[in-house]
Amino acid sequence: MLGIIGGSGLTKLPGLSVTHRQVVRTPFGEPSGPLTIGSLDGHSVVFLARHGYGHTIPPHLVNYRANIWAMQRHGVTHVVSVATVGGIHPQLAPGRICVPDQIIDYTHGRETTWAEYNGKPVTHLDFTWPYCAEMRGRCLEALGHAGESPLDGGVYAATQGPRLETKAEVERLARDGADMVGMTGMPEAYLAREAELCYAAIAVSVNWAAGRGDSAAGISPEGIEQTMGDMATRIRVVLKNLACMNYGDEAGAATPGGVCDV
Ligand code: HPA
Repeated sequence: MLGIIGGSGLTKLPGLSVTHRQVVRTPFGEPSGPLTIGSLDGHSVVFLARHGYGHTIPPHLVNYRANIWAMQRHGVTHVVSVATVGGIHPQLAPGRICVPDQIIDYTHGRETTWAEYNGKPVTHLDFTWPYCAEMRGRCLEALGHAGESPLDGGVYAATQGPRLETKAEVERLARDGADMVGMTGMPEAYLAREAELCYAAIAVSVNWAAGRGDSAAGISPEGIEQTMGDMATRIRVVLKNLACMNYGDEAGAATPGGVCDV
């Protein structure tokens, strides 16, 4: 089953016909909200707003462990994270979309593993390629089918937030090889790996990162809001395309990788 984690600008999933909401308690506390269980164009999905349905949880206080645990326990096998980013790569102007293939983690103080809870001997999971190739492929296909031309691959820098970066910090991220900067990519991606979920992200550029492009003098919150609003409809189409694919849980759904008509 497909799980959708919505970031800023996606606290609701219009078009989702809600079957029920499920409060899930986990050994790590509460997820960002109840899971919203329903269907998108007749295909089952589980939706969760990362920052809470009222957008009240800042990136460093998101209970990533509880969110991923709840999804996994609910039978989710594949997760798409929709995340806003600041663009660093010249092709990631506001309004452009990327399906990243790498991460650099600059966050700190977040709970990053379940290792101490599962009672198993310590393992060091491979994280060379932090995103699931299958899910990245599905995202790219769903985006293409929606008429988008996303950047295929890029390095996502996960910063601590909730503040935006300084110009010098963004210059350092660029020197490190980062193509975009966001605040929520980690530890979410790693926890999904630990949970054996096939996880990928659709990164939506909503501003030039600090000091770049029209953010040279500063980042305009109004500009971010405007772009997020403009992107919502486009992302909805992409998510419908993703929901139409077969995740092994629905007889009669489109063939794996196939996209139904929308
Ligand atoms: N930096 C960090 N996170 C973000 C940004 C940014 O510029 N834009 C959207 N999320």
